[in-house]
Amino acid sequence: MRPGSRASPSRPISVIAHRGASDEAPEHTLAAYRKAIEEGADALECDVRLTADGHLVCVHDRRVNRVSNGRGAVSALELAELAALDFGSWKGGPGTDQYESPDSEDSERTSVLTLERLLRLVAEAPRPVGLAIETKHPTRWAGHVEERLLALLARSPVTSPVRIMSFSARSLHRVRSAAPHIPTVFLMQLLLPRHRDGRLPPGVRIAGPSIRILRAHPEYVERAHRAGNEVHVWTVNEPGDVELCVRLGVDAVITNRPQRVLAQLAEA
Ligand code: G3P
Ligand code: CA
Repeated sequence: MRPGSRASPSRPISVIAHRGASDEAPEHTLAAYRKAIEEGADALECDVRLTADGHLVCVHDRRVNRVSNGRGAVSALELAELAALDFGSWKGGPGTDQYESPDSEDSERTSVLTLERLLRLVAEAPRPVGLAIETKHPTRWAGHVEERLLALLARSPVTSPVRIMSFSARSLHRVRSAAPHIPTVFLMQLLLPRHRDGRLPPGVRIAGPSIRILRAHPEYVERAHRAGNEVHVWTVNEPGDVELCVRLGVDAVITNRPQRVLAQLAEA
């Protein structure tokens, strides 16, 4: 049996909260991550980008327009400028993406989240919670994202498992070269012919296919397992997709709805 693989149906699939419990609170905010921890998520997913003054912040898009009341690229803004924006106002409630409460005073729901703060939250969690950190389009900074990320991790108080994920094999290569002890996840939007047999870039042991890949190529999970790799699937929100993941025996699901997915898995 592969180390880390599901030994039996009684060994649960790991549930990773995508941008926090992002169906219930604004994505990548402290409130969304607190909620995910309360709901029992095994790990938290976050995207990281570098600000103009070299801070890593948890923001998905290149620009802040969708998720805040500001405009512009994260990489062109300084942390103080991001801190003045409202990152909670875009989400009026579960399942909506309406711009609503620009004057909200709940800073846990509205403030930009630095990776440093997220690491503190995880370190202080009442139980071990893992982290799956995605480096977002790091080419612009040619290695600075990974450098800064590894430096932060090296001095962080987090003792639970941390993984680094990317769609960029080059980014993962940088991570592995500098920190071979940190597990890496190769994210895939499409299943390219060279990965169909389950193999991954050198040194990477976790595949991160989209749920669409598994719907079209369910045989991929068995192939990845045969190649000695784990499979962590994103973004698994719908009950039918959770069912598919259970049937195929994936190792982890990344979801916006950790509570609902955990409840479904408990009944499976
Ligand atoms: O967890 C992987 C998934 O987050 C990748 O897609 O666009 O949501 O970052 P995206
Ligand atoms: Ca992501």
